[in-house]
Amino acid sequence: MSLYLKKATIEDAEDVLSWRNDPTTRENSFTKGEISLLSHMNWFQRKLADSNCHLFILMDGDMKVGNIRVDVTEDVGEISYMIAPEARGKGYGKKIIALAENEMRNDETGVKALTGMVLKSNGASCHCFEANGYTAENAGDSFCYSKSI
Ligand SMILES: CC(C)(COP(=O)(O)OP(=O)(O)OC[C@H]1O[C@@H](n2cnc3c(N)ncnc32)[C@H](O)[C@@H]1OP(=O)(O)O)[C@@H](O)C(=O)NCCC(=O)NCCS
Repeated sequence: MSLYLKKATIEDAEDVLSWRNDPTTRENSFTKGEISLLSHMNWFQRKLADSNCHLFILMDGDMKVGNIRVDVTEDVGEISYMIAPEARGKGYGKKIIALAENEMRNDETGVKALTGMVLKSNGASCHCFEANGYTAENAGDSFCYSKSI
């Protein structure tokens, strides 16, 4: 299995939208509505142009299996991520976080810590952060995971 992150491009926008509009993703998101193609394309273009946003696609060989975004504020990067519905439950969720950490360590951005907000009901995602050594802080209906890198 050859697993790596590639930088996202505009050609990845529609795959990311279809993963984002999948019912399980919506249930586990903080904003649950379906997103239109037009609003997604505008958002995606803005994110690609934002130097504080690092947007990656997880590749398994030549197959796209997920995406991860790190939004940087000062020296903290906030993670958002999802795995393609058909690729879930195969270990990609744990690996995508580990690979993004490596990217951020090797980056010039000076990021010193990564965080991720996860709804407590999202057991699979909690497990992915915990398996990567993140510490959970209670935040109402969510956990705020964090780790120094
Ligand atoms: C959450 C998500 C990223 C996980 O990715 P994944 O590739 O399916 O996860 P993995 O296969 O790497 O690991 C899942 C782990 O969680 C465990 N798990 C699954 N459901 C669980 C639950 N309800 N409670 C606790 N652990 C659970 C699995 O057993 C597995 O652990 P193991 O590998 O040690 O056996 C993926 O399901 C997804 O994209 N969901 C929709 C979007 C989303 O929730 N994004 C994260 C928002 S914070």
